[in-house]
Amino acid sequence: MIRRLALVQHALFLALVTIGVWRALATGAAVPALVGAVALLLLWYAVGARRASAGPGGGPHLSAGGGAQRRVGPGGWWFLGLVLAWLLAVAVSPEFIWVAFSLWLLAGHLLPFRVGVAVSVVVLAVVVARPWPGGLTVAEVVGPAVGMVFALALSRGQQLLVRDGLERERLVTSLVAAQEETEVLHAELAEVQRSAGVLAERTRLSRDIHDTLAQGFSSILLLARAGVATQDQAAERRLLAQIETSAAEGLDEARRVVGALAPAPLESGLVEALTRIVERFASETGVAGEVRVEGDVAALPPVVEVALLRVAQSALANVRQHARASSVVVTVAEAEDSVRLDVVDDGRGFDTATLARTGDVSRGGYGLRASRQRLRELGGGLDVESEPGAGTAVSASVPLAQATDAGQEAGA
Ligand SMILES: Nc1ncnc2c1ncn2[C@@H]1O[C@H](COP(=O)(O)OP(=O)(O)OP(=O)(O)O)[C@@H](O)[C@H]1O
Ligand SMILES: [Mg+2]
Repeated sequence: MIRRLALVQHALFLALVTIGVWRALATGAAVPALVGAVALLLLWYAVGARRASAGPGGGPHLSAGGGAQRRVGPGGWWFLGLVLAWLLAVAVSPEFIWVAFSLWLLAGHLLPFRVGVAVSVVVLAVVVARPWPGGLTVAEVVGPAVGMVFALALSRGQQLLVRDGLERERLVTSLVAAQEETEVLHAELAEVQRSAGVLAERTRLSRDIHDTLAQGFSSILLLARAGVATQDQAAERRLLAQIETSAAEGLDEARRVVGALAPAPLESGLVEALTRIVERFASETGVAGEVRVEGDVAALPPVVEVALLRVAQSALANVRQHARASSVVVTVAEAEDSVRLDVVDDGRGFDTATLARTGDVSRGGYGLRASRQRLRELGGGLDVESEPGAGTAVSASVPLAQATDAGQEAGA
């Protein structure tokens, strides 16, 4: 569109010069002077033809943003040169005043508005001042003046068109850039989500392996050692049966951990699951075990049940491995908007401060940390109270409303 406008402009200039030459020849102008003046005019025009076009960079008083410049640019100076060449041609033959229409058009888009108007008025003065046959009439002033105003208005309109075009181009460019940026961000986000998912899955696996398989193996190991040590055949058979049960449960848990299924004991609810693992614990270790229930804990969200069961399993494994206790009590209690699980033993206890300082995962010490993290993910927490010689109390709590939301978010 803009290029077509420029072509029309060039064609108009050529046509007006041609009319000038034809009329000059008809009115008997001096041919050598005419050829010189026209050659200069066309040559000067050709040199700056690109500038004379209205395209981007062609209209030099349009900045990239489409705003008007206030100073005369290179195109403006070229145009002033063109006006001089035209004045020379008019001096050779007044018939060249026709070219003024082209000059007014160019003035509109090559010069800052005010300078453009001033130069146009000068050109108008030259046109009007030419010797009119039969003296100057009102029509001979008004005609060119209307032509000038029309040309200026036309180039102004053209200008707005160019500005719109530039603005649109800028908008499209920035839209495309924004879209590309969004795509990159999308890809990054997907990658972050993917790696977060991988990490969460790894954490889930390692915690579940710790709370089920590792504890199963350690219980099998203890039972097997007891079997090796005993001479009593009945005791041996009992230990073997316990080993078999532990191994079968371990196998089942292994399949569930890998398949990310709910823990097997939970199929009939948290309290029953706790009762079962405490009974097993008592029969295998000889430590007296008891489950207490306070309040209504029948309808807990599954994520909360899984977390509390794992915490209990991990705590009972600690009692078995570290406490040398004679009894352990597991309590599930429902408060107004949270649920609590306590595992309290009367064993030898330990110094919690030392553990906090030296908590080293590579040498065990994973269990309490994993339990705490599991509970935090549900908005809850873990308290461990212990002193050497004074038993240990592990207390887990999970707020109920929040836990359900977090669990749903984690898709657990
Ligand atoms: N009931 C308890 N009685 C005595 N000491 C305990 C008891 N529970 C935990 N501890 C002490 O706290 C430490 C940390 O327990 P945690 O369960 O985090 O790790 P771990 O049992 O040593 O190893 P892991 O659980 O990773 O197999 C234990 O090593 C033990 O010293
Ligand atoms: Mg442990």
